Amino acid sequence: MPADAWDPESHLRHPRLTAVRLATPPAPDRDRFPFNIPALQGLHEIGLPGPVTFFAGENGSGKSTLLEALAIATDLPAVGRADASTDDSLVSQRRLAGLLRTVWRRRAHRGFFLRAEDFFGFVHRLQRDRAEMEARIEQVEREYEGRSELAKRLAMGPAAASLGAMEATYGRNLDANSHGESFLRLFRGRFVPEGLYLLDEPEAALSAQSQLGFVAMMREMVAEGGQFIIATHSPVLMAVPGATIYNFDESPLREVAYDALEGVQLVKAFLQAPERYMRHLWREGGDAGDSAR
Ligand SMILES: Nc1ncnc2c1ncn2[C@@H]1O[C@H](COP(=O)(O)OP(=O)(O)OP(=O)(O)O)[C@@H](O)[C@H]1O
Ligand SMILES: [Mg+2]
Repeated sequence: MPADAWDPESHLRHPRLTAVRLATPPAPDRDRFPFNIPALQGLHEIGLPGPVTFFAGENGSGKSTLLEALAIATDLPAVGRADASTDDSLVSQRRLAGLLRTVWRRRAHRGFFLRAEDFFGFVHRLQRDRAEMEARIEQVEREYEGRSELAKRLAMGPAAASLGAMEATYGRNLDANSHGESFLRLFRGRFVPEGLYLLDEPEAALSAQSQLGFVAMMREMVAEGGQFIIATHSPVLMAVPGATIYNFDESPLREVAYDALEGVQLVKAFLQAPERYMRHLWREGGDAGDSAR
């Protein structure tokens, strides 16, 4: 069993990024996106006391915006898309990043920023690159028929090497896995100890069972000095013991206990009596029934 991330012996490694400070925006900007997001109003500092921090809150509460700005401020590469510092769609987030000050115990240069929704595009691009490399290898096989192995190998060189590197990093046929499987595999492939990982809704492709698998994986990574900041709606992920949870439904955002999160309470209450909710939402003879007639 690896050393416990929260035990006194490993505390020196955690967290590497200890806080994010937000300077007051200039007056003309205050009423404009992204500075007008309620969760950011009057916000001066977000403490990151442990290796795992969650951003929770309703749709549109500003979790992704802050995470994207943080990806720019920490200069981490984005998996599956243009880097946050050059992505044209993130102009506002760059302005927000300009007001962020990151406070490090030890600067992390490793890690990445990953939005689950981008990840699916990433898998498709891998699939395409792989198909191109395989086609190139086949072409060389045909063109060099009857010639020496050495000549073939030299001609295949770059394509074979890229395919080999891709397989070493992501495993064979990453694209042949389901979204959830390939996500977990990618994470294992790209994880490096002592990295900082900014994740936006990693649960998107994961079943409840796989989310538990992801928690177990995070646990191992935390023991190797990994730090996570995760925007999520998942009551499974947010239950990680000792994690700090910020509620973006407050203005400014505030730390919240797991059991006090509205999203968690709603899921609990719903699972105890789904029919009670459905009686209101899906009434027989109600709108749904009317339009079906
Ligand atoms: N470029 C933009 N210009 C103006 N408003 C924007 C822009 N991008 C996002 N918004 C708005 O900012 C708010 C915060 O969006 P954000 O995507 O950060 O929310 P979120 O908490 O991640 O939501 P979700 O849980 O649905 O992912 C939303 O109301 C959104 O419509
Ligand atoms: Mg979001």
